[in-house]
Amino acid sequence: MKYISPSLLSADFGNLQRDIEMLNASECDWLHVDVMDGIFVPNISFGQPVVKFIKKHAQKPLDVHLMIMDPGRYVDDFKAAGADILTVHYEACTHLDRTIHAIKDAGMKAGVVLNPASPVCVLEDIIQECDMVLLMSVNPGFGGQKFIENTYAKVRQLRDLCNRKNPACLIEIDGGVNTTNAPLLFQAGADVLVAGNAVFKSENPGETIKQLKK
Ligand code: DX5
Ligand code: ZN
Repeated sequence: MKYISPSLLSADFGNLQRDIEMLNASECDWLHVDVMDGIFVPNISFGQPVVKFIKKHAQKPLDVHLMIMDPGRYVDDFKAAGADILTVHYEACTHLDRTIHAIKDAGMKAGVVLNPASPVCVLEDIIQECDMVLLMSVNPGFGGQKFIENTYAKVRQLRDLCNRKNPACLIEIDGGVNTTNAPLLFQAGADVLVAGNAVFKSENPGETIKQLKK
């Protein structure tokens, strides 16, 4: 699978509806929505009311990335706000299995996110429950950071783990993705690429999405 999920964190918040409509008309597959609490990550982005607004205008699934502590507290809230896929950090959950089941019971696709310093092997006993695993290719919190090269090796390890235990599980990559590393990531075994700055800071976002997908 080759999916592109542009990150609205890099959109113009003063013209959010315009940017969502641009994505509706583009070849992108999902809209990536970054929720940050200022505790799990140093930055604060936005919460459920903004997600609800995004849902109102979006014609594609919302891929909601929770960068918040103890995200299990907010599963039903984000379902109500319109999330289709909900990803939670391994590092932010004490009872990850419970949280993943709560997400699926609420009727969403469930994903686990790993920070750059968390090894793929910690997924060994949860991978069979995941619809998706998101590997962070930057330290979470900000758009526009430099891609961490070790990600390629992690994608290959994760692909092996999925082949062994859950072949249907999707692999998503987030952080510093651009038209240069995108083909290498797909080649290594990624299914979904998130791109913030690469899309929104480009001259022609629609064309960049097309390039990323190639
Ligand atoms: C970072 C967020 C990313 C971010 C990616 O913490 O999770 O989704 O928006 O932005 P770029 O593609 O600019 O690195
Ligand atoms: Zn993200």
